[in-house]
Amino acid sequence: MEMTKRPRRLRSSETLRKMVRETRMDKSSLIYPMFVMDGENRVQEIPSMEGQYRYTTDRMGEELERLADAGVDKVMLFGIPEKKDELGSQAYAEDGIVQRALREGKKQFPDMYFLTDVCMCEYTSHGHCGVLCGQDVDNDETLKLLAKTALSHVQAGADMVAPSDMMDGRVKAIRECLDAHGFINTPIMSYAVKYASGFYGPFRDAAGSAPSFGDRKSYQMDYHNRKEGLKEALTDVEEGADIIMVKPALSYLDVLSEVSKAVQVPVAAYSVSGEYAMVKAGAKMGWIEEEKIICEMAVSTYRAGAGIYLTYFAKELAKFMDEGRIG
Ligand code: PBG
Repeated sequence: MEMTKRPRRLRSSETLRKMVRETRMDKSSLIYPMFVMDGENRVQEIPSMEGQYRYTTDRMGEELERLADAGVDKVMLFGIPEKKDELGSQAYAEDGIVQRALREGKKQFPDMYFLTDVCMCEYTSHGHCGVLCGQDVDNDETLKLLAKTALSHVQAGADMVAPSDMMDGRVKAIRECLDAHGFINTPIMSYAVKYASGFYGPFRDAAGSAPSFGDRKSYQMDYHNRKEGLKEALTDVEEGADIIMVKPALSYLDVLSEVSKAVQVPVAAYSVSGEYAMVKAGAKMGWIEEEKIICEMAVSTYRAGAGIYLTYFAKELAKFMDEGRIG
């Protein structure tokens, strides 16, 4: 039989398969999301996210050490405060949980790169991502507090800030505020394309940040929409975002692919808590092979266009990359 094309030829050995891989990854692109909480000498497992913990600042060094050993040198901090109030004042308090974690973390781990999630929902008594005006979140009033929060993170040592609130104009507000205080070189990674998603469920348990009434659909995006994702991404680039994020990852690879083609800045994807929890639960039941799924999820995200990957599996992936199983 005459055949000019035999695609199987390049699949015939592991050596050859590795040589012709189209997607290559590196540990330097991994960011590990990490929860820090008020209090002392406590490490608490998050029930809906087995293997993930909340750390008090005096104990977070244990995890930072493990990350550094695995070759993961970037973390995204999420704060869980003891006290919450209407205006989320612990988000921008000088001695707030993230601010203290940053000072401590930077001192002990000068080579670790610290990003911070900038949002109000972990800090407000009502659990919404901004200031309320009646039942609605007041966009422009919230911008002031977000800018204040971002500035206080940077003053405490944050290397990069990542607003996740989905208010309009927040990148511009944060950029102006950081610049006015001399932090012209601190980058902003915007959670630009963030959908109102059921995949955040376990995170809200972890952070105690579920809204006490209603939902987040008046600020996070409707998942029926693709073009709107592009609009959000392009708007944030115009406002000065240095990196654009798409979130969640797995159900949004189409959006990720388009965004990565449309913008001229690096694109990140966040594999969120629900994605993690599903893998953990399936593996525990013996219904899926955890390692294979972790690798496939990661590679598909990079293949779709992500250059940066935020994942609770960062340590595992770093190991798989070291072992040459992926990458
Ligand atoms: C804060 C924030 C959330 C996540 C990241 N930043 C929760 C939300 O928007 O409800 C979700 C992360 C995850 O699910 O892993 N606004």
